[in-house]
Amino acid sequence: MSDDLQALRAETAELLAAAADLRAWDAVRVATLGRSGRLTGLLKGLGAVPAEQRKERGAALNRLKGELEAAIEARRLALEEAALDARLAAERLDVTLPPRPAAPAGEGGIHPISRTFEELVALFGAQGFSVAEGPDIESDWLNFSALNIPDHHPARQDHDTFYLPAGPDGRRPVLRTHTSPVQARTMLSQEPPIRVIVPGRTWRADHDATHSPMFHQVEGLVIDRHIHLGHLKGCLIDFLRAFFGIADLPVRFRASYFPFTEPSMEVDIGWNRKTGALGAGGDWLEILGSGMVHPKVLANCGLDPREWQGFAFGMGIERITMLKHGMPDLRPFYESDLRWLRHWASDPLSPPSLAEGV
Ligand code: PHE
Repeated sequence: MSDDLQALRAETAELLAAAADLRAWDAVRVATLGRSGRLTGLLKGLGAVPAEQRKERGAALNRLKGELEAAIEARRLALEEAALDARLAAERLDVTLPPRPAAPAGEGGIHPISRTFEELVALFGAQGFSVAEGPDIESDWLNFSALNIPDHHPARQDHDTFYLPAGPDGRRPVLRTHTSPVQARTMLSQEPPIRVIVPGRTWRADHDATHSPMFHQVEGLVIDRHIHLGHLKGCLIDFLRAFFGIADLPVRFRASYFPFTEPSMEVDIGWNRKTGALGAGGDWLEILGSGMVHPKVLANCGLDPREWQGFAFGMGIERITMLKHGMPDLRPFYESDLRWLRHWASDPLSPPSLAEGV
């Protein structure tokens, strides 16, 4: 290779090494390979080379051209990589760092209903439950018939149902009166074993200090082989003691009736009627409904009752929230009164944790 070509190669290598960013790199590229670049100039000058040297000179120039193109491209890749590394370092975000306290203090809290949702998910999650959901507007088959509440059954009246206009099948959809239709939805859509809770909105035409036309329930459903009443009792006793944070909270199971469970049990917890304090206070307070899933309900939902058994429960979220915090009235839950919300809201940056007690 002649001296001028070697010089061009060496100088270009130096210039490339000195190019610290893509702009400087592009200047080197243009000065070498561009229309009036050094190498382009040498190629253009080939015609003036004496004929006997032209072939050799031409081959050398072509080789050099290949080398320079490769060197320039390699430098571009190195610079781009360095730029990306610098950007990754500059924009680094450690999502495991603890959050900064919210400012100004007290703005943006979690509503007590949402907080209870979170606590239910944490507590039942620790018992292996996952969360299932269903729509607010249900067919009367899912809200009632699948759950062994036939047409004209008095329970349909007890529920103070909101009916919607009839659909093409002539049947009127309802605003679900309980979360129990999601029991049926879950059994129809999932293979057992099943272990779900269903927190959600429910509707009944009822309105006073302890009833709202829209309220919330949480349903629980467990389906497996060999499930018995002992499982139901253990599950609910553990939950109630953890939720209310009272290790020796008395819990009583009292025979009752629901069309969709057999046997059915209402569950009471101990309290003191005079002071309102929960715990061993000599009185009993009804808190939720439960029972072993009725064989007819299993069959309605496509499960063989000889193979599968289970238990279910349902409770009012407002009710357990009011009891836990000593709230006297249900209505403020929905009134968006900022003073009430500020008083009862919980810190969005400390979600419920089992380790700290919910
Ligand atoms: N769905 C019942 C209610 O709304 C509660 C319940 C659920 C009872 C599951 C037993 C089993 O009152």
